[in-house]
Amino acid sequence: MAQTWTKTDWRNKPRIQMPSYTDADKLASVEAQLSKYPPLVFAGEARKLTQQLGAVSRGEAFLLQGGDCAESFADFSADGIRDTFKVMLQMAMVLTYGAKVPVVKIGRMAGQFAKPRSADTETKDGVELPSYRGDIINELDFTPEARIPDPAKMLQAYTQAAATLNLLRAFSKGGYADVHQVHSWTLGFTASEQAKEFREMANRIQDSLDFMASAGLTSTTNAELASVDFYTSHESLLLEYEEALTRVDSTSGKWLAGSGHMIWIGDRTRQPDGAHVEFAKGVMNPIGLKCGPTMTTGHLKSLMATLNPDNEPGRLTLINRFGAGSVGEHLPRLIKAVKEEGANVVWTCDPMHGNTIKSSSGYKTRPFDSVLREVQEFFGVHKAEGTVAGGVHFEMTGADVTECTGGVRAVTDEDLSDRYHTACDPRLNASQSLELAFLVAEELSERAGVHRAAV
Ligand code: PEP
Ligand code: CO
Repeated sequence: MAQTWTKTDWRNKPRIQMPSYTDADKLASVEAQLSKYPPLVFAGEARKLTQQLGAVSRGEAFLLQGGDCAESFADFSADGIRDTFKVMLQMAMVLTYGAKVPVVKIGRMAGQFAKPRSADTETKDGVELPSYRGDIINELDFTPEARIPDPAKMLQAYTQAAATLNLLRAFSKGGYADVHQVHSWTLGFTASEQAKEFREMANRIQDSLDFMASAGLTSTTNAELASVDFYTSHESLLLEYEEALTRVDSTSGKWLAGSGHMIWIGDRTRQPDGAHVEFAKGVMNPIGLKCGPTMTTGHLKSLMATLNPDNEPGRLTLINRFGAGSVGEHLPRLIKAVKEEGANVVWTCDPMHGNTIKSSSGYKTRPFDSVLREVQEFFGVHKAEGTVAGGVHFEMTGADVTECTGGVRAVTDEDLSDRYHTACDPRLNASQSLELAFLVAEELSERAGVHRAAV
């Protein structure tokens, strides 16, 4: 039970997708060091996020979660963080405009370093090496040395996460995210259709703000106009790292995973009796659970009972990732299971991980059309079932990369080699992300219409 749970219990459960460190002394010394470092997030923030996700579960807010597939040490830069943050602010503004509800913003940032892999080894030109598992574990270079898991990388990941979060906090609270800055978020954007559409929307928002100012409502009188809440999240995969940053909250006596506001359990590591579920069940943070086509209704029911025994709204987010064309087959049976249990959950759609293909030019990619189609199917099923399509979860970046094909600026298979920078899965670029936000907003404005008609 939760009262007797401790942060090391996962060590007695079967673990998969985690490295076998060869240097036990070095591992122990890194863990001891990390255990003394400050947590990156605080219990009050996790509680606030849970409440906001509770609102999402009731359709009173919408969830936007996005960021890199894998953060990398080499690509770490202030500009990179700013650009992704900026695109998420723009997307949130577009979605708020469509949904007429607040948008809860969560980055896949400041801790998204460890990656599950479909195979333990990778073979190139007849040479077989252990797979790359994210910068917190080993290195991408295809050499035997680079692929050895090194515990010291956890310290570098912690430092990068702390610096990232510091900048995100400054951007969120320091004036950059003030709604009156809505026009400045487009600076540096290329002249895309989306940028134009965004500027037109920003003009309308500016008109409303001018009207509000004349009625005496400004960022000075209403502090909520001057800042945003921006949360962090990552897959809680490398449990040695998670455990070392897990602390008891002095006010409630509960355990907090101090590595990020929300943590999620991946589609490959959600075994009800496995180490990852064991770890997540004991911490007070909101928990995400990836649900792919192999999620059975029996497992889902058991996981809901384990991860959210008190049925607290906002505690559990089901991140659906079935693939375009498969939502109709899987989502209704999971919705039925949730209804049967009377469970409170947030339903959100990750249209990335079920739509990865190999392009004709050999790159791993995701066609924009499939991504969009999965989102539309997700909304369609929830509409038919009378349940709440609560949010979207994207792998995306503020940079102008060419990793996913399609979109109005039509990245082709041949373009992929131009700016293919991801260390792991292909991400939507800034223009594709904004385009998708406008398309999701259309679905949401329909939902808002339904809600208005219902009251
Ligand atoms: C991910 O979100 O990067 C990921 C690996 O997802 P999934 O567990 O759904 O495959
Ligand atoms: Co990914």
